[in-house]
Amino acid sequence: MRIAIIGFGVVGQGLAEILRDKAAELQAEQDFHCEIVAVATRSRGTLYHPDGLDAALLLEAIQKGHLGHYPHVYGLTRNWDALTLVRQCNADVVVEVSPTNLQTGQPALDLCYAAFDSGKHVVLANKGPLVAAFAALHERARRAGQLLRYEGTVMAGTPVIRLAQQALAGCRIIEARGILNGTTNYILTQMGAGMTYQEALAQAQKLGYAETDPSADVDGWDAAAKLAILSGVLYGQPFSLQAIDVQGITGITVQDIHAAAAAGERWKLIARLTPQGGSVYPTHIPLTDPLAAVSGATNAVTYVTDLLGSVTMVGSGAGRASTGFAVLSDLLDIHRQC
Ligand code: HSE
Repeated sequence: MRIAIIGFGVVGQGLAEILRDKAAELQAEQDFHCEIVAVATRSRGTLYHPDGLDAALLLEAIQKGHLGHYPHVYGLTRNWDALTLVRQCNADVVVEVSPTNLQTGQPALDLCYAAFDSGKHVVLANKGPLVAAFAALHERARRAGQLLRYEGTVMAGTPVIRLAQQALAGCRIIEARGILNGTTNYILTQMGAGMTYQEALAQAQKLGYAETDPSADVDGWDAAAKLAILSGVLYGQPFSLQAIDVQGITGITVQDIHAAAAAGERWKLIARLTPQGGSVYPTHIPLTDPLAAVSGATNAVTYVTDLLGSVTMVGSGAGRASTGFAVLSDLLDIHRQC
């Protein structure tokens, strides 16, 4: 499989590291060989080689600050813009992992359309295109006969989308409730352990949990975006962000956290979805609630179903390897289907 990676930040680099380190294992165990043929960034260069780029050299170049540091080899193209690259490269799959724009989904949305129209599948870790145009994206993929996968948009590589679509197929999911943002759960956990809000946020950014603009995390919009995507997955009717009641964690003080602890409770940013609507609110929950034990960048979702009762999945919700793995799991899924 040949892939083009659009965006080479935490997620793109996480994926490249996995492909660099696990190539032999993936070949032996999954019969999967993946060649990165193109990488595009907004301000740190663009590379395309139809025979493939070296993942280790890509990572070295970006660590020096710019893909221009990638060594010159015959056949290498350095100056295509992302749209030209998506249209003209020989990739089978476009991996869109550039920073999220929750309002318009752009420029990623147009790149997804261009990918489908030029006969390529799309894997998204970028939530923007799905939040802005869930139905249109699916329709465009269907018309083009291409696959669209986006496990990494909700809870990183923890497979809550695949759980709903595949393992729970046949059940009706009456409600989804959980902790869907790693950054805020990390901040609330660290504030409980003595850090200030600012220190905890800085640490979450350093660890690669936060969005490029972390206000999307702390104001609740990242969790709301995940609910919007889940509403499309679970109910086929994606809610707009405006239809979800959202409140972030910026109003929660260290005093609030200590008061909750004294009362045998813990503050969590709880996301809830039913067919009727969605909400994201900071909530103090009793320590006996299983969600109270979900700490750091770990996330969890409980699906309340008609046939199986409640099913809870707990796992990493953010981070370099976790989200890189999410993309890999989608690539493997496409590999198995094609
Ligand atoms: N910023 C997100 C989070 C990353 O903290 O959960 C994964 O979407």
